Amino acid sequence: MGTFPWKRSHNNSEVFRMTQANWWQHGVGYQIYPKSFLDANGDGIGDLTGITEKIDYLDKLGVDFVWLCPIYKSPGIDNGYDIADYRSVDPQYGTMQDLDTLIKELHRHNIRIVMDMVLNHSSDQHQWFLQAKQDINSPYHDYYIWKKGKNGGTPNNWTSLFGGSAWEYNRATDEYYYHLYARQQPDLNWENPHLRHEMHEIIKFWIKKGVDGFRLDAITHLKKLQTFENVDNPDQASRNIPGIEVFLRELKNIYDHYGVMTVGEVGAVPPESAIKWVDPQKGYMDLLFQFDHVNFGDNHKFDFATKSIPTVRKKLTDWQIAAAKQGNLGLFIENHDLPRAVSYFGSEEPAYRNRSAKAAGLMYFMMKGTPFIYQGQELGMINDHITSINEVTDIDSLRHYQERIKDGYNTQMALHEIAFKGRDNARTPMQWTAGSLAGFSTTTSWIKVADSYKTINVASEEKSSNSVLNFYRQMITIKKSDITLQNGQYMLEKTRAKDLIVYRRFDTQATWLIITNLSNLTYNYPLPQDLASQPYHVILKNDGYITGNQSKISLDAWGAVLLKFE
Ligand code: NOJ
Ligand code: CA
Repeated sequence: MGTFPWKRSHNNSEVFRMTQANWWQHGVGYQIYPKSFLDANGDGIGDLTGITEKIDYLDKLGVDFVWLCPIYKSPGIDNGYDIADYRSVDPQYGTMQDLDTLIKELHRHNIRIVMDMVLNHSSDQHQWFLQAKQDINSPYHDYYIWKKGKNGGTPNNWTSLFGGSAWEYNRATDEYYYHLYARQQPDLNWENPHLRHEMHEIIKFWIKKGVDGFRLDAITHLKKLQTFENVDNPDQASRNIPGIEVFLRELKNIYDHYGVMTVGEVGAVPPESAIKWVDPQKGYMDLLFQFDHVNFGDNHKFDFATKSIPTVRKKLTDWQIAAAKQGNLGLFIENHDLPRAVSYFGSEEPAYRNRSAKAAGLMYFMMKGTPFIYQGQELGMINDHITSINEVTDIDSLRHYQERIKDGYNTQMALHEIAFKGRDNARTPMQWTAGSLAGFSTTTSWIKVADSYKTINVASEEKSSNSVLNFYRQMITIKKSDITLQNGQYMLEKTRAKDLIVYRRFDTQATWLIITNLSNLTYNYPLPQDLASQPYHVILKNDGYITGNQSKISLDAWGAVLLKFE
């Protein structure tokens, strides 16, 4: 980032910030869902001290920074994505002092910390909202979005991403307020300069605490369509609405001034617009997450749409090309909103779990961008197979289930959808050991431990050199130590094999070929003609790699191999 003021002095000598320019471009991120990582005080809920206790684990894994999902004070309707006080730590996670310790200890290990920042909405328990909903004359009233009803109903046809109308009636003022997510998550009114100022100050508060960056939740939604008229498509109401750039630019000036990195959740923006968001000079953030490779043209997010590998490779390639000249992508296959990658991209079958976790991992990891790993992904954790709606905690899954039942689905069918796609799959406790409660807690955990913990856990993967965990450690080392894999060009290799994703990373120094089979079929992959006569080394492989010669590579089910050409 050209004009980035990386080296600056800070008044507070306690604040430590490493000054290496653009560190995220050659780093690997690790996403922590605090509630499910490690419970240090035995109340069944993961906490900040639990994370501090596992810094050695993160260090040994080799990650450069942690993205911490929200730990702010919150009623927890959406597990912290409903913030009641932006400057405090929720007591269930510990104290501000615990957070200071975590930041200090991470930094002592040269690991940076990126905080989740929810700018689009607050909790309905935030002081601002509590006052806003009581009194139309409160200065906080206009911090939210209010409209009068129309014809005895909602102000317009805008819908919530969590289902139903986006408008909730408020008797005290005889108005409706807008919520893109749950009704307990009222959207903030970014048109109001006072609100914007408050949010800027909150960001500065955390920067002064010494955090290194922010993951920007729901950031494409800050601006709403100001006509408030009916729309044909829900995205037209609040997704990337012209004028949003004013808000984003103001925010960017703050990040740049203090030299913090940002990664935005930028769903449903086409690759052609990528540069607008992440251009190193003019963009609004440093990295973006796109979601095209994890949404399969579904009618809704719980759809059982069949995943098509040709579609996945095309979508990923479109983004690689879009961000090729400038800008940087955050690469991922898992997060706290998605099912587990092995269950989704790979195979849970015991014979294939290890291989397919590695194949899916290698497939995205060596693309151009900053790889993110979601806790447990590095073990090849799989979906939990829930059998009852009583096991479900996620607000969105519960809402979907109730909707299905209302529409006449039988309970088994409704449960089936949630079991496959629901967000709880990513939120079951991190599996540390084969012991009681997977070593996550000493008491009943807030969400059930997934049944797979006896076979899939850190302790056993530490011991096996062939484990998914050790494969991830190797991928991290390789990517971080190779300039071609960081900055080299990306090229998709054409193949008629529908289950293979093969691409090349190259520059004048070296050429790498990443060959992954995302199926349980066997394939012979003929090497590209221009490489066929060149010697290569097998740098990393899984058990599905059979053999290779100068003309072809043979892959068994879920085979994956990383080749380096001299
Ligand atoms: C995106 C977050 O990743 C998700 O978990 C949350 O429910 C919504 N934004 C609302 O904040
Ligand atoms: Ca705890």
